[in-house]
Amino acid sequence: MTKREGDRVIIKLGGSLIERGREIIRFLRDYVEEKDKALTIILIPGGGPFVEVVRNLSANFSISEDTAHWMAVLAMHQYGFFLANGEIRIPVVESMNEIDGEPIRILLPYEMLKADDCLPHTWDVTSDTIAAFVANKIGEKTFIKLTDVDGIIDEKGHLIKEIYAEEMVEFEEKKGCVDTELPRFLMQNKMNCIIVNGNFPDRIIAAIEGKETRCTKILSMHTKTF
Ligand SMILES: Nc1ncnc2c1ncn2[C@@H]1O[C@H](COP(=O)(O)OP(=O)(O)OP(=O)(O)O)[C@@H](O)[C@H]1O
Ligand SMILES: [Mg+2]
Repeated sequence: MTKREGDRVIIKLGGSLIERGREIIRFLRDYVEEKDKALTIILIPGGGPFVEVVRNLSANFSISEDTAHWMAVLAMHQYGFFLANGEIRIPVVESMNEIDGEPIRILLPYEMLKADDCLPHTWDVTSDTIAAFVANKIGEKTFIKLTDVDGIIDEKGHLIKEIYAEEMVEFEEKKGCVDTELPRFLMQNKMNCIIVNGNFPDRIIAAIEGKETRCTKILSMHTKTF
């Protein structure tokens, strides 16, 4: 089977999944090869322990917000290289020009962000918003965030199945496991994010295939992609 051009899915792989991240990548590669050869999965690494180093440095030393921002972006690269170096080796890429029809690629965001430095240089922006930025840049209005919880848990301990980004902007406490800037970015760019627990492969596949599963969908009003 030949690849259908432009058939791709953007997945942010959170640092919280560092222990299983490379296993998840292998699983995703097998899924594409066995079930949907037309698909390309573009992975955006989270920050994980690498960004904690930058946070600690910026708490203890004088580092400007600009410098901390770029150091934090490069922390995503470190996690990206780590993820790429599992049982299966995957090349990392820095632009869409390097996406070559292979089942799965890890996209490192520094060059894309340098070319369009539109995100605020604050700790409100982390790899969640950066993944949304990359998805938007390449024309995808939805991305999947894989993390170590089932989605956003409300104050009563229940999973929020669907929430509007607009509502999250209004109620700070509803942000849960996404970074502070993400809801605003989704709203402004009419995008959606599906938060899925990466420890459950069946849920990841359901999200990729657009099927119902246990997750939180952050929708922006007026989007018709769901
Ligand atoms: N209301 C909430 N709902 C869900 N998770 C929450 C909530 N509040 C805090 N969390 C925490 O958010 C964590 C997930 O976010 P975290 O930023 O740690 O992971 P990640 O985004 O996968 O990783 P990274 O930011 O390194 O890429 C969960 O493990 C959970 O403890
Ligand atoms: Mg996070």
